[in-house]
Amino acid sequence: MNARIYLDHNATTPLLPDARAAMDPWLRPEAGNASSIHREGQRARAALERARAQLAELIQVEPDTLVLTSGATESINFALQGRAYHARAGGAGDHLVATAIEHPAVLETCRLLERDGFRLTIVEVGADGVVDPEAIEAALTPETILVAVMAVNNELGTIQPVAQIGRLCRARGIPLHCDAAQAAGRLEVDPERWQVDLLSFSAHKFGGPIGLGGLYIRPGTEMRPLVFGGRHQRGRRAGTENVAAAVGAGAAAAWVAERRAELQRRIGGLRERLERGLLQAIAGAWINGAGAPRVANTINLGCPDLEGESFVIALDLDGLAASFGSACSSGAVKPSHVLRAIGLEPERAQASVRFSLGWSTTEAEIDRAAELIPRVAQRLRAALAGRIAT
Ligand SMILES: Cc1ncc(COP(=O)(O)O)c(C=O)c1O
Repeated sequence: MNARIYLDHNATTPLLPDARAAMDPWLRPEAGNASSIHREGQRARAALERARAQLAELIQVEPDTLVLTSGATESINFALQGRAYHARAGGAGDHLVATAIEHPAVLETCRLLERDGFRLTIVEVGADGVVDPEAIEAALTPETILVAVMAVNNELGTIQPVAQIGRLCRARGIPLHCDAAQAAGRLEVDPERWQVDLLSFSAHKFGGPIGLGGLYIRPGTEMRPLVFGGRHQRGRRAGTENVAAAVGAGAAAAWVAERRAELQRRIGGLRERLERGLLQAIAGAWINGAGAPRVANTINLGCPDLEGESFVIALDLDGLAASFGSACSSGAVKPSHVLRAIGLEPERAQASVRFSLGWSTTEAEIDRAAELIPRVAQRLRAALAGRIAT
């Protein structure tokens, strides 16, 4: 029997062997609490700070600007709530701006803030899945206290013009948050060049463990903490640090930083091959976000007359993992807000599935996927036609 084919790296990428090996000693009984003053504690502290430095290097910031969190969702909540409440308390304003294709971690936090009296402008994107910096500029007011723009969209893989938006925001003294969960390890992440004040990422998107993320806070950006209860991480995030996860994340960051360009070239070649094969083999198929610059690993494929959820289930039964709708909410069956935001009619949005590649994807898997996906699509279409005919 053939092994399964995992094409859902945007949901989570498998743990890198280097990360797992680095974590092992920190999962043993001798591992201490990084806040303790004894030898076990000091060893844990040193390992934690080394990991922070490796993560900081991946996103090109100074280690002391990086707060370790439980993942991008927490980082985003901290960035948005921490900045918004601090700014409003200081009388700086109460207006937030976010794009329509942000991850639910951003959109739902913005909605929460809106219910708490903040004003919110959601900026629409083009049909190509990219936000226009001029549309962001038009949304800014003297009351704007934060703009949120993701670096790479998780469903389409489209790259957003963060540096252009950063320039606009910095010129007006408005902090910019960038959700770089799908960018770290795939693109060169550069908060200084992008003129970003807050940047969130998550280790499990680049081969580190699930449950470890980070928030870069540009020096001078004042924030209210999100989690209270201790002086950990210089009072910015209370709670005993997860040393094992941080060490694994640090090892994964070092691994990808060393081979990012080569890895992305290889993955990009495989993606092109699969995408071409699928477009040729499935009549009427299209790629969502095809017109825009995209990261190397993502295919968002539309298949006429198919229902994305049934397609993903059928592929799963045949041994291939893909996703339908937003990966993080794939338990809930709703047309994707991202696909609706790029103007797809509900039927076309429902007929779209995402394949995302990563470090463990092989040429042999892609060849099998290029044969399997059209075969399953064909079978489902035939079944659907039969159902309609009877
Ligand atoms: C763009 C984006 N932001 C945020 C998140 C949330 O990340 P985490 O799983 O670390 O909470 C994800 C996860 O899918 C994502 O793709």
